[in-house]
Amino acid sequence: MSAIKSMKLYTHVERIYRELGELGKTVDDRLSVDDLTPFDQLHYHGTQALDVAMAMIGIEGQPRWLEIGSGLGGPARYLAAYGDVHMTALELQPDQHEVARSLTARCGLDDRVEHVCGDFLEFERAAGSFDAIVSWLALYHIPERPRLLDKCFSLLRPGGCFYTEDLIARGEITPTQNRQLQQELYAITLRRIDQYQQDLEDAGFAVELCRNMSSDWAEFVRVRLAAYRADRARHLRVHGAAAVNAMTEFYTAVNRHFQSGKLGGLRLCARKPEAGA
Ligand SMILES: C[S@@+](CC[C@H](N)C(=O)[O-])C[C@H]1O[C@@H](n2cnc3c(N)ncnc32)[C@H](O)[C@@H]1O
Repeated sequence: MSAIKSMKLYTHVERIYRELGELGKTVDDRLSVDDLTPFDQLHYHGTQALDVAMAMIGIEGQPRWLEIGSGLGGPARYLAAYGDVHMTALELQPDQHEVARSLTARCGLDDRVEHVCGDFLEFERAAGSFDAIVSWLALYHIPERPRLLDKCFSLLRPGGCFYTEDLIARGEITPTQNRQLQQELYAITLRRIDQYQQDLEDAGFAVELCRNMSSDWAEFVRVRLAAYRADRARHLRVHGAAAVNAMTEFYTAVNRHFQSGKLGGLRLCARKPEAGA
């Protein structure tokens, strides 16, 4: 099993099919993006977060977007459908990628969302291929931050936008906590908010917004865990004990790390300067 599967959110990918089954959808039924959004958004505040991104980046005349770490394809399908952009959805894990591809086809969006399976650090496209690069809760999984940001810079056209919501460190993380964060959240690169912004500037970006989301997300994950526990009987009926125990473990770990005050999050929007600027 690959190391990233130590994060329990990524086991039991069939959960989404069980939820669709609850809606009476069989495996061949056509789907709408809205059928899926309650289940396919693996970040905080679901599609509201995507609406914020579209408003901030702007969609007019900027059709080529890359999402790094696209998961089950939820953000990419929503952005393609409601933002009318062409998405390249890059996902590391083959099982997530396959589910994403099949759901996108069932939504009739395969001409607007290109699914690619692979590691962003090995991803190859011509320089300037994208108008925007976006990512929700994925970059903290990836090592080699300078290499990652240099690639983003090169893949964007001049004037293009880099937008992310990502996890960050707050204060000193102890070695024990660090081991737990690696195991439970597959946290490979956790930067403090000031370091995160500096990393972007060192790569040549002009940072337009860097918002600390830590308190908001701490409350979000607290409420999410309480709601999941309160609905345990329903979840057991739909998903079975193994999947429910895995999700409970994951939500509990995320909540514990946020409430410890050592884990937080940010929303960041940065631009590659126009040529000659
Ligand atoms: C928390 S999920 C978020 C998925 C999606 N962005 C969303 O919000 O629904 C992060 C995803 O990033 C992917 N990922 C991690 N490292 C990656 C890498 N090096 N290249 C591409 N994807 C990666 C993971 O496999 C995982 O599916």
